[in-house]
Amino acid sequence: MEVTLDGVLADAVRRLATAVRDRRNAMHTPVVGTADGDLRMMVLREATADLAVLRFHTDLRSPKATLIGGGGMVSVLAYDPDARVQLRMRGTGRIEHAGPVADAAWSKTAPSSRRCYLAETRPGGALEAAGSAIPDAFACRSPALDETLPGRGNFAVLLVEVRSLDWLRLDREGGIRARFARPDAGAPWRGEWIAP
Ligand SMILES: Cc1cc2nc3c(=O)[nH]c(=O)nc-3n(C[C@H](O)[C@H](O)[C@H](O)COP(=O)(O)O)c2cc1C
Repeated sequence: MEVTLDGVLADAVRRLATAVRDRRNAMHTPVVGTADGDLRMMVLREATADLAVLRFHTDLRSPKATLIGGGGMVSVLAYDPDARVQLRMRGTGRIEHAGPVADAAWSKTAPSSRRCYLAETRPGGALEAAGSAIPDAFACRSPALDETLPGRGNFAVLLVEVRSLDWLRLDREGGIRARFARPDAGAPWRGEWIAP
């Protein structure tokens, strides 16, 4: 079957949407890069069909949240070893702490997942000994819903508007690779084939 640029773009969108729903999918936890060169894995929570929004959840106190702020450069790398497909994306990131998007995301977050936002030390902050910084009361149990409320102040969403996408599939013949770019999410994608 002939491979087309439109088909490749659709494949990328489909893979990301599937990864959001399936926690065992390798693309469920892509690597997210920031302009300081740092990298970390994050859970992909949403990927819209136009790739105008990749949503992640994070701690507002984390270094990456401070760095990205209202418009930092973000890269996202995902790989599916079964399909041997790599997706490399770049775009503009935005941290939202207040407002309807963050509120909706928080309301859909289960108490067991909200627990990490109760940590008394910010991510990356020094501790006297090894530990999670989560209050002892919740070390061995999930907090009840009302016990998670203090965590809301530390919760934020990272929204990435994808501006470029590099799709690579390896195979025995050497693979195929396509690159797509657009100036902003309102503009159409411009795609081209490139050497793997
Ligand atoms: C499998 C996995 C999933 C993770 N998911 C998230 C996540 O969804 N959000 C997040 O902020 N950190 C997540 N982390 C932790 C980050 O990789 C990172 O250690 C943390 O966010 C530290 O913040 P910084 O990158 O700002 O220093 C995850 C780590 C692993 C190993």
